[in-house]
Amino acid sequence: MRLRYRLGVLRNLDPTFYCDPTVFRSERERIFWQTWQLLGPASQVAAPGDYVATEIAGAKVVAIRADDGELRAFRNVCVHRGARLFEEGSGHCSAIRCPYHNWVYGLDGTLKRTPWFGEDPDFDMADWPLQQISVEEWRGLLFVAIHPVEPLLANLGDTVTVLADEPIETFQLYRTEHLVFDANWKIYMDNFIEGYHIPGIHPSFYAAIDFEKFETVAMNNVIKMTAPPKDDLFYRGTWLTTWPNWTLSLFDGGMNTSRINPIDEGRTELLYHYYFADLSDATREVRDRTVDGSISVVREDFGICEITHQNYASGGYRSGPLSPRHETGVAWFQQKLAAILT
Ligand code: FES
Ligand SMILES: [Fe+2]
Repeated sequence: MRLRYRLGVLRNLDPTFYCDPTVFRSERERIFWQTWQLLGPASQVAAPGDYVATEIAGAKVVAIRADDGELRAFRNVCVHRGARLFEEGSGHCSAIRCPYHNWVYGLDGTLKRTPWFGEDPDFDMADWPLQQISVEEWRGLLFVAIHPVEPLLANLGDTVTVLADEPIETFQLYRTEHLVFDANWKIYMDNFIEGYHIPGIHPSFYAAIDFEKFETVAMNNVIKMTAPPKDDLFYRGTWLTTWPNWTLSLFDGGMNTSRINPIDEGRTELLYHYYFADLSDATREVRDRTVDGSISVVREDFGICEITHQNYASGGYRSGPLSPRHETGVAWFQQKLAAILT
């Protein structure tokens, strides 16, 4: 399985990459658990005891603000017999209590109490802290990494420069959305990083941009797509996708981010956060129209991604040619994947 060029034509990735559970297991370890994963706004963990729990390709993790003000992140897994400590989502707690046998950890991950455990001279609570993982904040966004192979800024690459003049840290969280569909995560990524499908799949979106001027540029670890919006479009006309799996789209006075998280090789979830500078009642209607408009464009992609996945899985598809005009982002993403997986 490899990215193939034949007679100079750039080809789509071999379909077996998308449907094979063995490939998915490699991706979890070599891509999702080694890169920085966006957990949304850092405001979710502003005060001691605030936490956000999520999954990264099946690995349960939690980021939490400790009593000393330090941000920490752990496997969301009890060291006793492996129960989940926090349900997925954000919230606040004064200590970390496992629901299974009531072991209690401090916000710094140290084991504090093991009720009804009994006496064992060889057991020392100091030997059993939660498994720590890496956590960072960048410009109001919260990231964690399980086994990072590079620092956050290196992973962000040119995302840093592209967003340098955008006041993203002034935006406040307005809404979250959780969407699930039945296709491999890479089929959704391939789709998100090309504008080629906009006339076919998003007719209203197509009518709202100058499609002839649609541009896709693959930079260092980020793909930037731009198109001049016409008058009534909520998007500002810049869409970013940062390696390996998160997106940022700009609105007037706001943005959304999404993390594309695989549940398994045939099922994917999207975790969307919508942010705006102004959360006043006066602008609520505009905000809701923006969020609803954006979500409906996102949903329009699910059907085509699901059917494409079915065709890849059926064996009825051989990798086709990629457009040099519109699918350079797809080629960039697939080359990066193939280099890691093969
Ligand atoms: S698994 Fe957590 S206390 Fe037993
Ligand atoms: Fe789309």
